[in-house]
Amino acid sequence: MTDILTAIAERRSAKRFDPSVTIPGHELRAILDAGRHAPTAFNIQHWRFVVVSDPALRKEIRAQAWNQPQVEEASALIVLCADFKAWKKNPGRYWAEAPAKMRETYESMIHSFYEGREQLQRDEGIRSCGIAAYALMLAAAAHGYQSCPMDGFDFEAVGKLINLPPDHEVVMFVAIGKQTGEYPPHGGHLPLDETIIHNRFA
Ligand SMILES: Cc1cc2nc3c(=O)[nH]c(=O)nc-3n(C[C@H](O)[C@H](O)[C@H](O)COP(=O)(O)O)c2cc1C
Repeated sequence: MTDILTAIAERRSAKRFDPSVTIPGHELRAILDAGRHAPTAFNIQHWRFVVVSDPALRKEIRAQAWNQPQVEEASALIVLCADFKAWKKNPGRYWAEAPAKMRETYESMIHSFYEGREQLQRDEGIRSCGIAAYALMLAAAAHGYQSCPMDGFDFEAVGKLINLPPDHEVVMFVAIGKQTGEYPPHGGHLPLDETIIHNRFA
């Protein structure tokens, strides 16, 4: 197992994967389980992880993804989707293990926070999937695999291919496998001090 700081520091986006590699089922489940442990506002857990294992479907998705080889070569292709309406689908279940009073309080807070705020519902789904995607990538690294986050694809076409429900949206892919060849040169990282703002923007 790779420790978390090493996984963060050494992670790169893989461009090619060895298509002959199979991730054992228990390992893939452990990686997906890391995604399930990602935080969500009010614990609504509205990410959905579509694991595309059908080679024919992978081929079709690749055709909608700028023909990027990762889509077919990765040992696992996960399409992260957000259920923007999860907040009103029996929200008590997101607090099922909490004491009843706390559950009721959260149900009411969830309702008043999301009701009538379509943009917020969508934004939250994107936020949550982004966090879950990184959890999947780091878990993949911990298990000795490489990954690539991806949004270079036709969102509508991919949605159709996976029978996306109308109240869900495709957010991004995470492709996971054993990287082959060299990583391309890195674009570089902005100086840390340029990315940190103390207290407020000037
Ligand atoms: C939301 C998102 C979408 C991306 N989409 C693609 C993609 O479609 N194909 C690809 O090869 N890399 C994709 N990348 C990888 C970026 O190009 C890469 O993260 C960036 O250049 C920094 O390189 P590094 O991840 O190796 O540090 C994506 C990254 C993110 C976060």
